[in-house]
This record gives sequence, C-alpha cells and structure tokens, in this order.
Amino acid sequence: MAYDILIANGRVVSPEETRVADVAIGGGRIAEVAPHLPRDGAGRIFDAAGKLVIPGGIDVHTHLDMPLGKIRSSDDFETGTRAAAFGGTTTIIDFANQSRGQSLHQAVAEWKSRAAGNAVIDYGLHCTICDLSPAVLEELDELVREGVSSFKVFMAYPGRLMLNDAAILQVLQRCARNGGLVCVHAEDGPAVEALIREALAAGHTAPKYHALTRPATVEAAATARVIALAEMASAPLYVVHVTCRQSLECVAAARARSLPVFAETCPHYLFLSRDDLDRPGFEGAKFVLTPPLREKDDQQALWEGLRTGVLQAVSTDHCPFNYHGQKDRGRNDFTLIPNGGPGIEHRLGLLYSGGVAAGRISENRFVELASTAPARIFGMYPRKGVIAPGSDADIVIFDPSAERIISAQTHHMRVDYSMYEGLKVRGVPQVVIARGQVIVENDAFLGHAGAGEFLKRDVCSIAVTSQSQG
Ligand code: URP
Ligand code: ZN
Ligand code: ZN
Repeated sequence: MAYDILIANGRVVSPEETRVADVAIGGGRIAEVAPHLPRDGAGRIFDAAGKLVIPGGIDVHTHLDMPLGKIRSSDDFETGTRAAAFGGTTTIIDFANQSRGQSLHQAVAEWKSRAAGNAVIDYGLHCTICDLSPAVLEELDELVREGVSSFKVFMAYPGRLMLNDAAILQVLQRCARNGGLVCVHAEDGPAVEALIREALAAGHTAPKYHALTRPATVEAAATARVIALAEMASAPLYVVHVTCRQSLECVAAARARSLPVFAETCPHYLFLSRDDLDRPGFEGAKFVLTPPLREKDDQQALWEGLRTGVLQAVSTDHCPFNYHGQKDRGRNDFTLIPNGGPGIEHRLGLLYSGGVAAGRISENRFVELASTAPARIFGMYPRKGVIAPGSDADIVIFDPSAERIISAQTHHMRVDYSMYEGLKVRGVPQVVIARGQVIVENDAFLGHAGAGEFLKRDVCSIAVTSQSQG
C-alpha cells in the first residue's frame, strides 16, 4: 500500500503509552500505525528516530480578531493560526462573542466570516452569551446541533459581558438537556468593580492595580458559586483559565464528588507571576490579563493540578494587544489597558519544557493535556487528539531535546512583545502536519490561508469524571 507520508521510527505518544512505530498517512487521514511499515511507494518519508510523534496540539481558548471597543486583538485568523502552527497546534477553538441585542447565530456567522479563507488550521467556535433572552435559549439547542456545542458565560465585567446567576443557571439547565458544555469565566464581577472604584479613588493607576483589584478570593468565590449552579442544574461545567490554589481546591472538591467539572489553566499562570506587573515603567502592562497573574505558590499548585488530574487542559487564552498603540492606552489608568496576552505559539514548548523536561509530568500526560483531553471534552475525539487509523492526520514530530529562546524578534504572532522574552524552552516542534499536509518544516511555513476548515463539533464525550480521567 502506498502512502502519501510515512513517519518512520518515532516514539508515538498517547495518554496511555509511548511506543516506537511508523505512522502512515493517506488522503489526509492516518492510515496505519505499526512497526516496520513498508517504505516502498511512500510519497515522503520522515525519519523520526529519537523524536516524539504526537497528535497535533488543540488550543481550546483563543481570541483572534476580537473587537474590544475601538480596537481588535492584534492577531487575525491568518496570523494567529499560522503562529499556532509554528508551535505545533493544529486545531483551535475561538470564542464568537455575542454583542448586546445580537442573536447567537449572528455572532457565530460574524466569527465564521472572519475565519473562513484565513485560518491555516481547523477551527471550532464556542459562543459567548452576553445577552440572554428566551430566543437566545432556543438558539442554544440549534447551535449544539450545528456543531457549536459549547458556550461561554462571564461572571465578570458587569454591564458589558456578565450574566447574573439566574441567567447562568438557565443556560446550564438548557445545556443539561441539549448536551452543550458551559465554559465559565469565574470572577465576582461586582466585587471587582468595587475594588477598582476604591483603587482609582485612591489615585492608584499603575498596571499592578489590575492584579490587586482582582484577588484570588474573587476568583475562588465565583468558582464555588458556579459549581453550585452547575450541580443544581445537573450540568457539566468547564472552568476556563484557573489561576490559583483556592480555585483549584473548589474544582478538586467538585471532582472528588464525581461532578462533571472540567478545568484548564494557561501557560502564563504556570510561568509568570504578579511580580511581572511590577516591572519598571509601564512594562507591567504587558502582563495585564484577566484573571491576573498570581503568586509563585499558585504556580506550584497548578503544576500539581496538571499532574494529578484536577486540571484537564492547558490552553492559551491568546488575546494579544500591542504594547505600543494598544496596551499604552492605559498609561494613566490601568482600567484602560486592554486585557490579554499573546501565547498561541508557545503552548506546547512551554508545557513540555516546564512539565516534561522539568520532571513534573510524563510525556503521556503532556499529550493528554495538550491534545487528547481537549478533543474529548469539546466533542472532537477521535477525529482529533489521537494518532490512530481513521483520525485526521494532524501530527507533530516534536524534538524533545532541541532548545529555543522565545523572543518577539523571532516569534510569528503579530504582536510587538513577548511575555516570555529571553526564556529558553526545551522541546521544539520540527514538522507539523495538518490533515495530511506538511504546514511547518524546520521553521518554514508551508501551509496557506484558507486551508483550515470549520469543525462541526459533537457534544462532550466525557460525562463522568474521576481524578485520573482526562
Ligand atoms: O485577559 C483576557 N483573558 N482577555 C480575554 C477575555 C477573557 O476573559 O478570556
Ligand atoms: Zn475569560
Ligand atoms: Zn479568554
């Protein structure tokens, strides 16, 4: 049998095992995975001896081309997904945000038109609900059927994005029936607003007050509240961007009671801390993202949560704004600094480096967190997230011993700074294949805009949780 591509002799990694095998690709799918497959007739052979062969990364939390008042996040679907590909990510799920008065379908259509013809890798959409009405509740059922099977609600940003508890409960109840998964941004919005008013009244305008007005307790209190709402509704829940020990404890307690509560953290919470907001001058603005960076102790707790299974995924919350021209709008008032940071390119490298190379997690857990569990939770498995016959040929040949220094001079994200400037990471994607096409090879981009397709996702395939389950 002739294959389009044969990846030979690599260490093929899944959450369960690592085995030396060849991977054959044909027609955009994985054809076979076995030792010593015939070389004859293969269109292209990659010798992956000594390399990891892993399923393409899946980043389920990005904000590309996202309007924020008069500005937009600085990466669009082309530049953002190209940078993702350089970092070994072959699938993203972005957030289609509903504006006030808009239907969810309008929001999804808007986001699809931004992505279509631009994305270089496959993309799904969550839909963010900011304005709930009976008609919007009806739309939830339709969207789940149309492959937009997850929704985000905000407990923060009152008057703009926040839903109150009654509305969140209604969304959860609806999703308990239609199979949708509710993703939540857990911060007690009104409490934050009060703290912000106090800070500004006291003349505190520097970037570090962004973190001081959004303490960990505000996140943990909201996390506990929304878990209670999900339990009342008998609905599964996915807590986005968990930052701190206290919130982690809420998630762990829920999971210990076998509630279907899932949670992610992001690389910046694992590598950066509140100290970064204290950098000289206005540099702290580069680290203004929400929820804010925490303490070193929280980083340890998050790594532990990744190892033990309290957390199931690492995603980036990629929401880049340029330092010059965007972040600097808040030079005299931290509340005007656009929230968010760039990260879509470095998720795999950081997770491998800080996780596997540093001895905190196994390479199998790395694959589970970066690809397999997100695919399962967000209804893409086994099309995505696994190297097995019939799955999409989304594959990364990953060099576990290569090193790279992260810098804005060399990264591919369209943003003028890096949060990790100068950091050396171990573990580099060498070849990236998306649906059977080589899109990155040795630092060269070989893909093209528009190659990425909208993914109609199924519903969450893991309804029951346990501490060890992805
Ligand atoms: O600062 C962030 N994370 N901005 C993006 C919106 C969100 O809350 O996820
Ligand atoms: Zn959020
Ligand atoms: Zn986000």
